[in-house]
Amino acid sequence: MKLSLSILTVDYLNVGKSLESMIKKCDYLHLDVMDGNFVPNISFGPAFIKSLRKIGDIPFDTHLMIQNPIDYIKVFAEAGSDLITIHPEASSDVMECINLIHSLGKKAGISIKPKTTVEEIKEYLPYVDLVLIMSVEPGFGGQKFMMSAVEKAKELKELKIKNNYNYLISMDGGINKDTLVYVKDYLDLCVVGSYIVNADDPMERIDIITKMW
Ligand code: DX5
Ligand code: ZN
Repeated sequence: MKLSLSILTVDYLNVGKSLESMIKKCDYLHLDVMDGNFVPNISFGPAFIKSLRKIGDIPFDTHLMIQNPIDYIKVFAEAGSDLITIHPEASSDVMECINLIHSLGKKAGISIKPKTTVEEIKEYLPYVDLVLIMSVEPGFGGQKFMMSAVEKAKELKELKIKNNYNYLISMDGGINKDTLVYVKDYLDLCVVGSYIVNADDPMERIDIITKMW
């Protein structure tokens, strides 16, 4: 399994400095883009991601929690994202988004909110590089893990094996050493935020998580 570090709850004043050592031990940086419309919170945009790019060549796993992602995919690709994940609940033409992401030479992900079923995204599964299961209602870091995500991870893994699909299975929200236990057998990637970035010793927390696989 791989670790994608979510920086949403980091200290933004010292972001470069505080991430310097952490990114050496992580596989991706998870960047939560929120528009105050699709989710009840506003985070950061492409300019911030572009300046963060100077941090090194760690792949950027950009999670677009924005309405009509099609309008912004290109700017987030140009800002330095390697993987761009959109929400089907926010888009009227999901296939158009996936195709646009691919045409820009990036990997395409699709993310489902807790109330969206795997069935609702089945038609896109042959075309995506990643499926991101939300294990909290999107919008904020530091929320409690929802157990309903476990069944979805299992279902997506079964579908992947049965159909020989290529997508990575990822999960986002409330992941820590206690909750990861329930899902680690089904995931290829896990997104961890506050458990690491808001800890007194983030490096120790990274070790705890990565030693679990
Ligand atoms: C929630 C975001 C998550 C969040 C994860 O909307 O998509 O990436 O930052 O943070 P934790 O791990 O604190 O739940
Ligand atoms: Zn996220």
